Amino acid sequence: METVKFFSGEQVPLEMHKVRMVQRLNLLPVEERKKAMEEAGYNTFLLKNRDVFLDMLTDSGVNAMSDRQYAAMMLADDSYAGSETFYKLEKALQDVFGTKYFLPAHQGRACEHILSKAFVTQGSVALMNFHFTTTKALITESGGSVEEIVSDAGLEVTSSLDFKGNIDMGKLQEAFDRLGKEKISFVRLEAGTNLIGGQPISMQNIREVSAFCREHELLFIIDASLLADNLYFVKVREPEFADVELNDITREMGKLADIIYFSARKLGCARGGGILTSSDELYSQMRTLVPLFEGFITYGGMSVREMEAMAIGMYETLDFHVIEQTPIFVKALSDEFLARGIPVVTPAGGLGCHLDATRFCEHLPQTQYQAGALASAAYIAAGVRGMERGTLSEQRNPDGSERFSNMELLRLAFPKRVFTLSQVKYIADRIDWLYQNRELIGGLEFIEEPPILRFFFGRLKELGGWTDKLVAKFRADFGDSL
Ligand code: F0G
Repeated sequence: METVKFFSGEQVPLEMHKVRMVQRLNLLPVEERKKAMEEAGYNTFLLKNRDVFLDMLTDSGVNAMSDRQYAAMMLADDSYAGSETFYKLEKALQDVFGTKYFLPAHQGRACEHILSKAFVTQGSVALMNFHFTTTKALITESGGSVEEIVSDAGLEVTSSLDFKGNIDMGKLQEAFDRLGKEKISFVRLEAGTNLIGGQPISMQNIREVSAFCREHELLFIIDASLLADNLYFVKVREPEFADVELNDITREMGKLADIIYFSARKLGCARGGGILTSSDELYSQMRTLVPLFEGFITYGGMSVREMEAMAIGMYETLDFHVIEQTPIFVKALSDEFLARGIPVVTPAGGLGCHLDATRFCEHLPQTQYQAGALASAAYIAAGVRGMERGTLSEQRNPDGSERFSNMELLRLAFPKRVFTLSQVKYIADRIDWLYQNRELIGGLEFIEEPPILRFFFGRLKELGGWTDKLVAKFRADFGDSL
């Protein structure tokens, strides 16, 4: 994006790319949307994409790629071992992060699987600013547990703090004093955060956590899946870095962490993942797990075509015009909502716009899954598929009781460079209508509840026939409009 001044004086961000391939979209009538939601068990993961107008479920693996990424795919070297493509990607990652070793894995959670197998022991605790669903499930599966030490502001829906995702150094010290070095498997910093509204982490915080871990001999891991957005916030919100090259920032991160891993479905706009380190010892601890779980060490379960695209995508992440598009769109939609009094996470972060279902659906109890209900209602109202990021995305406590999420959010993710501003205006309009009619949104109840990662496959039912009332009101207000 490039901000230009209009004749009127308004400052407007302009896309510094043009779209050269498009995909047809379909917006079903509201009655059919209601039926599709019911068939999907009120779980947006189970909707068929053909029934979705704007797919804002995630930015994972669905970002627009550049012409240079597509061109690179044609050059891929298919060899099982020693593929030239691997060395190209390894070089790109060395250039970007300055780290020595690259272990490929087929996606982010595959990296987490390897990290859990290598470093999580029975009864150990992984400290982190905040968990991600797959991270926690894999650590738990290896016999460890997760403790969150994010700043208090990170758990407040509205705030004016710039870096709500930061680790609270006092909480880190307290956890270290209580648990001791031996019990801590590692300290993980998710940069930026996922489940608490795409909130960023400052370089200052990364430096402090790194220094603490070095002093106390703790393993320090950065999850860089959401790094593209985080880099943008470091540049625009942390004065020291305003004039620093993006590559200098990523290289400093590479020095501060013992291990960096990422989902390349997000970072680098392709499909895959990787683990980086400069330590010979850590590398050899993890290396044998790659051929065991992923594939040979020079492809790690990825298609070489994706690896070629990823290499280019990593370099493109260092282009400010590329990385600023998502944060600008998230802010544009958040501002549209705020102007209409609709509750959202503030300040606007990366990844997507996060509606606050606790306030949006304050007439519903948390036991009826406010964020899940809002996700269903938003699909019925707008054909928009968002993702529940609340209690449904939690795991139950070991005794089977419900573990209520700190926040009940509906995430409307922005795949990078995929949507237009008129689509943003459409979402704002339909969600505004839903907000004016929020009393019509009712609760949900499980009818099928898997024990692990229940939000992927769980099926629910609506309580009290509220979706019919919502559809009737939509028709009354919009006539025969889609
Ligand atoms: N870490 C973070 C911070 C993530 O956001 C994700 C994925 C992963 C790890 C796992 O990576 O999907 O490649 O296995 N987030 C996706 C999302 C699924 O929709 O936010 P993966």
